Amino acid sequence: MSVHATTRQMTPTSLRSRKQAASIVGLTAYTASLARAMDPHVDLVLVGDSVAMTVYGESTTLGVTLETMIRHGLAVARTCQHACVVVDMPFGSYQESPQQAFRNAARVMSETGCAAVKLEGGQEMAATVEFLSQRGIPVLGHVGLTPQAINMLGGFKTQGRDSAAATRIEQDARSMEEAGAFGVVIEGVVEPLARAITHAIRIPTIGIGASPACDGQILVVDDVIGLFNAFKPRFVKRYANMLDDAERAIKAYADEVRSGAFPSEEHLFKPITRED
Ligand code: KIV
Repeated sequence: MSVHATTRQMTPTSLRSRKQAASIVGLTAYTASLARAMDPHVDLVLVGDSVAMTVYGESTTLGVTLETMIRHGLAVARTCQHACVVVDMPFGSYQESPQQAFRNAARVMSETGCAAVKLEGGQEMAATVEFLSQRGIPVLGHVGLTPQAINMLGGFKTQGRDSAAATRIEQDARSMEEAGAFGVVIEGVVEPLARAITHAIRIPTIGIGASPACDGQILVVDDVIGLFNAFKPRFVKRYANMLDDAERAIKAYADEVRSGAFPSEEHLFKPITRED
């Protein structure tokens, strides 16, 4: 089956039209199983480059490759029938030139079946976003705390605290709108700034550690369901403790194997008898 067989209910265009309408609900997904669980309930599924940290145990997003994003993007995109699937462009795959970005984004689109790509950056990425948008690749922007720029930002720090920084980030968001992005993620900024940007631009803003005034919210699924619980950033709300549940189940299984309680009669295959 072609990766393009699915027409999902949520598209970049339908999300674009949700400005100041019903809140856009976004979550990350990296695997088919969690994509299946969230698809009916969310509008936007992002195959984030946070996969580097959640799935591969890295401390930043910088090491993830285009091939890895495509593998996870394919697993998620072939599963989702409702939500709009967006795949992150990894570090180094788009910053060099609009042409490099197009080449790699076209691979992501054609090899996964996703509906759009996301890339980080503001004014410096505007020409690239325009180049992609004009050539059939819908783009979701990402401004504020941009994890791929962690070495420039000096860590995962809240952005936009002083007025010069706030002005720059607002201009970054405006430049995404002008370049043709269908929406923009605003991450890790002071609340009044995210609110002001949301009022200032005509494309939807999707907040993470930003503001309830944003046109939508997105979180990393591992944080929401408690698959990651080493620490909880302030902007995260945890709705389940899956890691604790998993540990309990695994311990129970190990105990039963050791005690001989598993497998029991009901788990065994029987030889065929004459009566069968
Ligand atoms: O990679 C990621 O998880 C993101 C966030 C905005 C959710 O970019």
